[in-house]
Amino acid sequence: MIKLSGIEKYFFAGTPNQVLALDNINLQIQRGDFLTVIGSNGAGKSTLLKAVAGVISVDAGSIKIDGLDVTAHPEYMRARDIGRIDQDPMASTAADLSIEENLAIAYLRGQKRGLARAVTSQRTGYFRDTLRNIGLGLEDRLKVPVGTLSGGQRQALALVMATIARPKLLLLDEHTAALDPKAARQVMEITERLVQQYKLTTLMITHNMEQALRFGNRLIMMHRGRVILDISAEEKGKLTVAALVDRFTSTSGTVFDDDRALLA
Ligand SMILES: Nc1ncnc2c1ncn2[C@@H]1O[C@H](COP(=O)(O)OP(=O)(O)OP(=O)(O)O)[C@@H](O)[C@H]1O
Ligand SMILES: [Mg+2]
Repeated sequence: MIKLSGIEKYFFAGTPNQVLALDNINLQIQRGDFLTVIGSNGAGKSTLLKAVAGVISVDAGSIKIDGLDVTAHPEYMRARDIGRIDQDPMASTAADLSIEENLAIAYLRGQKRGLARAVTSQRTGYFRDTLRNIGLGLEDRLKVPVGTLSGGQRQALALVMATIARPKLLLLDEHTAALDPKAARQVMEITERLVQQYKLTTLMITHNMEQALRFGNRLIMMHRGRVILDISAEEKGKLTVAALVDRFTSTSGTVFDDDRALLA
């Protein structure tokens, strides 16, 4: 279980520009849960994921993964338990390295040091099988530099990399937002497949409300650093995008200001 208690995060603390980006976040995520996260611009969604990943430190509160308090652990120490992708296909993979080399780095990140020597044909076979599973034909292109792949292929590879060590938590920050609609659909299909296959506990930020309703078994909405809605799978199944926007308006007292969210 992932347990966030009383998380606060300030930017520019003590200055006139002070922002309370996370305002007393309390969240318990059960193993295997797939949460979609929506909210207005600047709501704190990315900050929340970065705080959980250890990319940024928090000013108050604690983060526990399966009972272990990781609040003080730097990002590299959490990397074994947490896979993370953001929206930039260039950021999650190394362009100059081959598909195989990228996968090897991701694989070794999840291993103890002593096992790092396993540069074997066995491992290549494992990579090939793992890539075949996502159905893009990348298993026949192991030696190709990742820089030659399309954005969708790179995000799909990033998903494989983020999940190859079977993390306790997968964090996705609008990972399909920079892709064309067809590639975005493909990457979402792969996301869903991997999450189900490996029973991954997942937090996925999306601007697309339709996506937020369709995927996952729980939906949270953030506004001004707080979680203002927490919707269960059962309730989510009955909601429409219009009803979700209404819920936002009535709960937050403001108009939903994100046009992108309403596009399918
Ligand atoms: N590195 C930073 N330095 C200063 N302020 C920041 C930083 N990162 C985020 N903020 C501020 O914290 C608040 C939350 O930002 P965050 O990026 O988490 O929002 P978001 O919900 O991801 O928004 P979007 O939908 O636009 O991606 C915003 O007011 C933002 O300006
Ligand atoms: Mg963001």
